[in-house]
Amino acid sequence: MNDQAAVPAGTSGKTPLLEVDDLEVAYRIGRGRRAQDLIAVSGVSFHIDHGETFAVVGESGSGKSTTARAITRTLPVRAGNIRLGGRELTELSGRELRRIRSDVQMVFQDPYSSLNPSMLIRDSIAEPLRVHTDLDSHARDAAAHDLIQAVGLLPEHLNRYPYEFSGGQRQRIAIARAIATSPSLVICDEALSALDVSTQNQIIRLLEEIRQTKSVAYLFIAHDLAVVRHIADRVGVMYLGRMMESGPTERVYNAPAHPYTEALLSAVPVPHPRRQRARRRMLLPGDVPNPLEPPSGCVFRTRCPRAMDICAEEVPMPFPAVGGGEVACHLHTSGPELGGESVRVLSTA
Ligand SMILES: Nc1ncnc2c1ncn2[C@@H]1O[C@H](COP(=O)(O)OP(=O)(O)OP(=O)(O)O)[C@@H](O)[C@H]1O
Ligand SMILES: [Mg+2]
Repeated sequence: MNDQAAVPAGTSGKTPLLEVDDLEVAYRIGRGRRAQDLIAVSGVSFHIDHGETFAVVGESGSGKSTTARAITRTLPVRAGNIRLGGRELTELSGRELRRIRSDVQMVFQDPYSSLNPSMLIRDSIAEPLRVHTDLDSHARDAAAHDLIQAVGLLPEHLNRYPYEFSGGQRQRIAIARAIATSPSLVICDEALSALDVSTQNQIIRLLEEIRQTKSVAYLFIAHDLAVVRHIADRVGVMYLGRMMESGPTERVYNAPAHPYTEALLSAVPVPHPRRQRARRRMLLPGDVPNPLEPPSGCVFRTRCPRAMDICAEEVPMPFPAVGGGEVACHLHTSGPELGGESVRVLSTA
């Protein structure tokens, strides 16, 4: 192997914590002769460095949770690769898979569903330690004591039940549980969506503090582009199962390369009234297509204000975007004879 081939994909030049490469995940819909495969995620690639926050945004049904569930191996991977710390996850089974699972934890939108209502908080927080470690009950209790304080609650809260807490407090408990096994990656799937803005801000501060003290990385899934801007180092934008664009957060926000990203951003309010007026609001025509019958070529072309003939014929491959990251759009990959704009970046401001 020559030196060049040995250089890994991460931006830092080190092996990334997580590498997702050409991921495809499908659900089987219906039974017997009428069964059909719904391809929920297709050709999705991204990486997350150690201690980094990578956000995935996109409308409902774009495949964000499916991607997360493929990473935790709670859904089968149909094609592609997922490597954690350089180890291929799609080939693991049994004990090895359980060990990896303790290294990737999830926090969901609704802590009610992730916390057992009849279990004391003490036991909920210590449960991952019981499943994944050899710690005895004393050591687990001591760990729960530390964890509850690490998320800004008090040791006396350990002897209560989930119903005794507010939504924000329950999310803190869910976070304590998620970091119990010292995972290297925590996937937050809409973890802030059910909270009011001030509670969201408190949880964001907590996640940031945990990132620094425990050096975890986050895969942060959200609809809300406004929230993600303040958390993520890099962001990926999904639409109908595909990654349309990814890159450093500021580049994606200030100079979105994909027309879909531009449309999503145009709906995000800007604090400055003059800049808000200057921003063109892009309303996309039509609805998201049926995922069982996705459009040929680029899946966004049926709603794209800038679609060209080639968009119906060829699936656009990820192409380096000006300013960092990648964009899968023929505007950026095609030559000038097709109206392509390999160096042009659309601006919303
Ligand atoms: N259990 C399932 N069985 C069949 N299809 C599913 C299942 N879960 C998701 N899908 C389909 O897979 C596609 C991707 O769904 P997914 O839940 O990953 O999207 P999402 O981006 O997480 O959306 P949301 O923002 O609403 O959470 C959608 O078309 C959805 O209808
Ligand atoms: Mg989801």
